[in-house]
Amino acid sequence: MPVARGPTPRFIFILLGAVLTGIFFLSSIHKSTPSAHQTSTSIPTKQFDASVDRSLLTGHVIAPKLGNETAKAELGRAAWKYFHTVMARFPDEPTADESSALKSYVYLFQRLYPCGECAEHFGELLKEFPPQTSSRSAAAVWACHVHNQVNKSLNKEIFDCANIGDFYDCGCADDETDGSGKKKVN
Ligand SMILES: Cc1cc2nc3c(=O)[nH]c(=O)nc-3n(C[C@H](O)[C@H](O)[C@H](O)COP(=O)(O)OP(=O)(O)OC[C@H]3O[C@@H](n4cnc5c(N)ncnc54)[C@H](O)[C@@H]3O)c2cc1C
Ligand SMILES: *[C@@H]1O[C@H](CO)[C@@H](O)[C@H](O)[C@H]1NC(C)=O
Ligand SMILES: *[C@@H]1O[C@H](CO)[C@@H](O)[C@H](O)[C@H]1NC(C)=O
Repeated sequence: MPVARGPTPRFIFILLGAVLTGIFFLSSIHKSTPSAHQTSTSIPTKQFDASVDRSLLTGHVIAPKLGNETAKAELGRAAWKYFHTVMARFPDEPTADESSALKSYVYLFQRLYPCGECAEHFGELLKEFPPQTSSRSAAAVWACHVHNQVNKSLNKEIFDCANIGDFYDCGCADDETDGSGKKKVN
C-alpha cells in the first residue's frame, strides 16, 4: 500500500550513524587542536619555568659510583676533550638563548656524568664556580679553570688558562673564516 510512511528503520539507522560520526569527528578536532598547540608551545614554555629548571639542572647525581680507576681516567680524558671542544666552538657573541643553553648543558653534564663520585665532586665545584657562558672566551677560560680545580684535587699539573686559546686545537680552524677564530679566545 503506497501510504505515506515515516522513515524506515534502515534510514533512521543511517541517519543516527552519520550524526554520531559527525559528533565524533568534531570532538576529535576539538581535542586534538589544543594538544597539538601545546606540544609546540605551551608545554615547553611551562617546562622552562625557573623553578622547574633549577631542580632539573641541579638535582641529585644520577650515575652510580664508578670505582675502576682505569675506566675513570679514560672517561675523564674523553670527557675533557669533548667538554673543551664544546667551549672552543661556542659563539664569540652568543644570543641569550645560546648562553642559557650552554649553562643548562653544563649543569646536566655534571648531573649525568657517568662517574658518580666525580659528578658529586664536580657539583661542589659548580657551586663555587658557576658556568660562565657570556662568550666563547669566557666559557673556555671558565672550563680551563674548573679543569684545573679537578687537577688540583688529583695532584696533577696546573695549566695556564691564559694560553688556552693558543694551546687548544679543536681541529676546527677551517670554519673560522668569519674572523671568530679560537685564537681570539684570550
Ligand atoms: C667533570 C669531571 C670530573 C672528574 N672528577 C674526577 C674525580 O673526582 N676523581 C678522579 O679520579 N677523576 C676525575 N675525573 C677524571 C680526571 O679529571 C682526569 O680526566 C683523569 O684523571 C685522567 O687525567 P689525565 O692526566 O690523563 O689528564 P686530563 O685531566 O684528563 O686531561 C686530558 C688532556 O686534556 C688536555 N687539556 C688539558 N687542559 C685543557 C684545556 N683547558 N683545554 C683543552 N684541553 C685541555 C691536556 O692535553 C690533557 O692532557 C673527572 C673528569 C671530569 C671530566
Ligand atoms: C677497569 O676498566 C678498564 C677500562 O675500561 C677495563 O679494561 C678493566 O677490565 C676494568 N677492570 C675491572 C676490574 O673491571
Ligand atoms: C690538568 O692536568 C692534565 C694532566 O696532568 C694537564 O695536561 C692539564 O694541562 C691540566 N690542566 C688543565 C686545565 O687541563
